[in-house]
Amino acid sequence: MTLKETPYILQAEEIHKTYKIFGTSLEILRGASLRVMPGERIAIKGKSGSGKSTLLNILGGLDKPDKISGTQVKIRDRDITKAKESLRARIRANDVGFIFQSYHLMPEMNVVENVLLPALALPRGRTNARERALQLLDMAGLSERLTHFPKELSGGEQQRVAIARAMINCPTIILADEPTGNLDSATGDQILKMIFNFCQKENSGMENAPALVMVTRSDGIANRCDRVLNLSEGVLS
Ligand SMILES: Nc1ncnc2c1ncn2[C@@H]1O[C@H](COP(=O)(O)OP(=O)(O)OP(=O)(O)O)[C@@H](O)[C@H]1O
Ligand SMILES: [Mg+2]
Repeated sequence: MTLKETPYILQAEEIHKTYKIFGTSLEILRGASLRVMPGERIAIKGKSGSGKSTLLNILGGLDKPDKISGTQVKIRDRDITKAKESLRARIRANDVGFIFQSYHLMPEMNVVENVLLPALALPRGRTNARERALQLLDMAGLSERLTHFPKELSGGEQQRVAIARAMINCPTIILADEPTGNLDSATGDQILKMIFNFCQKENSGMENAPALVMVTRSDGIANRCDRVLNLSEGVLS
């Protein structure tokens, strides 16, 4: 190991995010830091508006933090805050699986096409991507829905497609933003079981199971994670 290498697969330090609206500054994140070990499962809690979605988007390279010295977001030792958009997109495609509260499926694509979408961003893996997609959809109990379009699926089914999509490229980390927020509690439980299941080595179909950072309001869910962090006043504790 060289001096620069860390044991973390994600290391975020001193994240600040300020939104400027009509001349007013809204300081949402004020130095949030997070270090994630491989395979670790972390729950993030916090009041509505505290900046949880903002933070997750920054961790996954969908949004940028304020430019402040000392800020870094390293995914497998590569700082995405300093990477050009093309490299950021590559790191995102290779290493990060996103699961959103409102699924974010492509409405004009069917179930298989939606799951395959992130694989198109990678040169490798294209050859067996379809096979993996079908395997993941089978595990998700969706083998009978392969050519359905999102609007022809229930909310829980749409979220299961989104989970399979998040897993298609064998990510090192899954970022889930209230993945059960739009579902009834029984369906929500089923979805969570699936996420936890997919993040286990023996079920992931991967050499190393992905880590999980999940925003949730539920204490029950949080308690099933290895660590629970609270976002308040712009910092995690
Ligand atoms: N693009 C934006 N421009 C301006 N303000 C924004 C923007 N995105 C978010 N905000 C503000 O930042 C704050 C944090 O938003 P965020 O969505 O991260 O909160 P959250 O903790 O995820 O809330 P919730 O639990 O309701 O999902 C909110 O007050 C919101 O109004
Ligand atoms: Mg949110």
